[in-house]
Amino acid sequence: MKRLRVLLLIHHYLVPPEDVSGIDTTKALWRTEYDVLKTLRHELKHDVRVLGVTDELTPIKQATEEFKPHVVFNLLEAFHEVGTFDQNVVSYLELLRMSYTGCNPRGMILARDKALSKKLMQYHRIPVPDFAVAYRRRKFRLPKRMGFPLIVKSLTEEASIGISQASVVDDERRMLERIQFIHDSIGTDAIVEQYIEGRELYCCIVGNQRLRVFPIWEMFFENMTDRQHRIATARVKWNSSYQEKTGIMTGAVDPLPEGLKERIPVICKRAYRALQLSGYARIDMRLDAQGRLYVLEANPNPQIANGEDFARSADMADVVYPALIQRILKAGIRWEPERNG
Ligand SMILES: Nc1ncnc2c1ncn2[C@@H]1O[C@H](COP(=O)(O)OP(=O)(O)O)[C@@H](O)[C@H]1O
Ligand SMILES: [Mg+2]
Repeated sequence: MKRLRVLLLIHHYLVPPEDVSGIDTTKALWRTEYDVLKTLRHELKHDVRVLGVTDELTPIKQATEEFKPHVVFNLLEAFHEVGTFDQNVVSYLELLRMSYTGCNPRGMILARDKALSKKLMQYHRIPVPDFAVAYRRRKFRLPKRMGFPLIVKSLTEEASIGISQASVVDDERRMLERIQFIHDSIGTDAIVEQYIEGRELYCCIVGNQRLRVFPIWEMFFENMTDRQHRIATARVKWNSSYQEKTGIMTGAVDPLPEGLKERIPVICKRAYRALQLSGYARIDMRLDAQGRLYVLEANPNPQIANGEDFARSADMADVVYPALIQRILKAGIRWEPERNG
């Protein structure tokens, strides 16, 4: 394996400390950064320089000029604390003519908007839930074809921000209340979707043109009461004591209806391509009791900490963590912005 110069871009407040003795790194906020750094440096033996990024672009330019990296490993999820600006940093890397890991800016833009991405997927006959957009400062009318139950979400936020049990609504009044909540408290437009009662599935993919799809993954909700909706709310995703109490777990998918095991990877690859993604991504899906599958969204640059879903599903396919990080690097080096932009 060739030794590469890798510039690791990290939010400045997530740069792991030099000395981690006495710290449970698996619980640290900077755990992904730590795992990636350690793996690049000590397992893959690359020459790594870490850059803690603040709200300035100049240090990025300087580091690329001085260090001349073969590739930038991009772990930034925001700039100026604005989540949607992450795509602009990647655009900047392209302008600097740097290879970078993860998704290209166009894919990030297309995937971020939960309505735009569904429109694109629909064109490619990828099944998605029916939806309508509720814009701020505009009156919302539910299209006649749509009925309850519905789920109300932010049009552009990620990580289940603004998603709780109250997001699933059964009547007009609650729907309007929840739309107002998204507008006022989350501060974005809202998307109102047909609620898909059923199982929650994920599929992790790495690559650009030739894609590697890892085994289908499922979120299990063991101890939830029948009155609760089995959805990945912010609490379900981020609160470990709540996860324990309600038996939230993820793992290799339970048996699926006939044919789906083969169809899901095909559908996920089509979604990845329809949204022009590159690098690596996770596709979120729902499966209803009739065996109908719906793609909810695609997540470019998902969480890649060792032991989290992406790495676990890769591992299930015998792609161990260092091999996964190396694959992500390779995809970054192979991606040619000028041919794909
Ligand atoms: N149309 C839907 N039907 C059923 N559950 C949904 C629907 N949309 C979202 N959810 C639930 O909410 C979670 C988060 O929604 P998602 O669209 O993936 O947004 P985020 O970007 O916050 O992950 C999903 O993982 C799923 O559990
Ligand atoms: Mg999601």
